[in-house]
Amino acid sequence: MLISGKQYRSIWVDQKSEKIKLIDQRKLPHYVEIITLNNLQETVKAISDMYVRGAPLIGVTAAFGFSLAMKQDTSEKSINNAYEQLINARPTAVNLAWACRRVSQKLKKIPDSYRKDFSLTLAKDMANEDVQTNRKIGRNGFNLIKKIADNKTDPSPVRILTHCNAGWLATVDRGTATAPIYEASEFGIDIFVWVDETRPRNQGASLTAWELYHNKINSKLIVDNAGGHLMQKGLVDAVIVGSDRTTLNGDVCNKIGTYLKALAAWDNNIPFYAALPTTTIDFDLENGSEIPIEERDEEEVLTITGKTDLGNPEKVKVTLDGVNASNPAFDVTPSKFVTGLITDKGVIGANRQSILTLKK
Ligand code: MRU
Repeated sequence: MLISGKQYRSIWVDQKSEKIKLIDQRKLPHYVEIITLNNLQETVKAISDMYVRGAPLIGVTAAFGFSLAMKQDTSEKSINNAYEQLINARPTAVNLAWACRRVSQKLKKIPDSYRKDFSLTLAKDMANEDVQTNRKIGRNGFNLIKKIADNKTDPSPVRILTHCNAGWLATVDRGTATAPIYEASEFGIDIFVWVDETRPRNQGASLTAWELYHNKINSKLIVDNAGGHLMQKGLVDAVIVGSDRTTLNGDVCNKIGTYLKALAAWDNNIPFYAALPTTTIDFDLENGSEIPIEERDEEEVLTITGKTDLGNPEKVKVTLDGVNASNPAFDVTPSKFVTGLITDKGVIGANRQSILTLKK
């Protein structure tokens, strides 16, 4: 999508140098810094320290991590080592495990001498696949937005509330939750987005608001607790979020705070959708209680980072020294609060029967 009018992906291979490039998302929204991944260790760090984040993107980044590992050593031991390091970089989003399994299995099936070239081609293919998948999610979700627009009895735009960043920065391009929004806007539907700031890492404020701004989608940033109030006032037509892992029964694990948005949507008869590629479905888990929830450093809660009036990045403490914090990074929205799952294979019910139809 666009940054200052120029098309970008969140991760790509530089055509001249064949180096793997990505946008360092820790620096957004104030600085667009592009960095190079040089080896497996840097890739693991980029995932665990959230230079890149978002379920689909960390999966694709891991695929590129394998290609960097294969540049140094194409042995089976090296495949196993890359697998162990990458899969453990973050625990909750299942796309990471899916990508690690897919790449390592394919690499093990071919002779050592092909692994270096093949792994890079495979990672590039997975990046392209992600873009195609998100296009499909966009088209499927578009129909829902169009229906809302067609049924409007007042001149207000279609008002979508989203949480965290499930935009193009969380994928290779287009996003999941934002794909239908971009699709609807390109079709000419008047659309508006309420963006939850998403403490503690502020993915909404730093990433979603930034990408919607650059792509000319009307939006307003709100504090995480404002959503319920806006729903009560009739100012939200639908909620669309992403997902890090969705289980067989339709439970949706996503950024911490998603559950409360779903509860408020339920109480106000507002449709609540999760937009996700089928690779985010964990067919091995019956329900959300089995999902490992990442607990991140308390520092993320005790501090906040921004830009000073002089233009310098600065991290400040928001509590007294000695105050402790807890920082669960994700929560589970029970399927009963989920109106539907917008996937690349269609919009389906958040239930076992519908989800099983997606299993190849
Ligand atoms: O901790 P993050 O920023 O990786 O969490 C991201 C989210 O929760 C997204 O909503 C989710 O990965 C879906 S991204 C299309």
